[in-house]
Amino acid sequence: MSIDALVAEVADSLGLENAQPLTQGGQKLVLTGVLAGTRAVAKVILIPEGDSSDEVITRAEREVELLGAVDSPHVVKVLTDAVEIGGARPAICWAEEQLSGEDLGQLLDPCWSEEDVWSLLTDVAGGLYACHELAVVHRDLSPGNVRRTDDGTFVLMDPGLARHLEKTALTGVFQPGTPGFMSPEHVLGGSPLPASDVFVLGVLAFRVLTGRLPIAVGAGGDEYLTRLRDDVIPDVSTVGTGISVGLAEIINTCLEKQPARRYLDGEELVAEIGRVRP
Ligand SMILES: Nc1ncnc2c1ncn2[C@@H]1O[C@H](COP(=O)(O)OP(=O)(O)O)[C@@H](O)[C@H]1O
Ligand SMILES: [Mg+2]
Repeated sequence: MSIDALVAEVADSLGLENAQPLTQGGQKLVLTGVLAGTRAVAKVILIPEGDSSDEVITRAEREVELLGAVDSPHVVKVLTDAVEIGGARPAICWAEEQLSGEDLGQLLDPCWSEEDVWSLLTDVAGGLYACHELAVVHRDLSPGNVRRTDDGTFVLMDPGLARHLEKTALTGVFQPGTPGFMSPEHVLGGSPLPASDVFVLGVLAFRVLTGRLPIAVGAGGDEYLTRLRDDVIPDVSTVGTGISVGLAEIINTCLEKQPARRYLDGEELVAEIGRVRP
């Protein structure tokens, strides 16, 4: 089945007009178009044949369910339910509001001002607060999953690996994440915690403020995971120059290796930022 036929079928099932391919993510085909008069994207996940098909469907449904339940200016809004399409190429798709701007991955360099880092921390902590409040951990807070819109707001996307702390069926040995942007708990096989998202937000802030990752991604395979487990995380103020005490304190606390020593969730982080931010 050609891509055109798939696009047409998705557009038809969701009511998306002028549908065009926008990008291919790690997992999803993303289309752009117009839904009920507003810019929208369609997310399309092909359903593999065989044993993993149910899991792919359940994970997609969970992503949509979560996005539908969260109401935050810092989490992308979903516009439709998840719809399965039959066709020659079975897939599951849904529509979301189209965010303007760019992914953080496009914006990592050059180093950011402290004010911009504060905005990132404030907005993403707010998005995490909204997820954690529903007992959901995002689990893949990588630069490709955070967008800065044209008005400077940061918005979380792609909770496709999110885990509901009370609905544990979908995890198993699968350890998701993006090298450079994982928490020590990932490596130790521990359960993901809200504080794991707090850690990765600390990694993002550290990266944009200093131009460096707190734990570098080495050349090969498991090197990063070994370092993430064994290395001491440097104090951010020893890596960048002239970083203010309050900002360094927040980033360093996010990056405590032991989850219990971090802000425990988005709510606690939002409160602390509110206290410290100039
Ligand atoms: N709502 C959206 N608005 C604008 N761009 C988006 C939106 N959702 C996704 N994208 C773009 O598509 C990319 C892939 O989407 P994502 O949901 O992260 O899929 P994957 O699971 O494949 O990583 C994102 O990194 C972003 O560049
Ligand atoms: Mg993504």
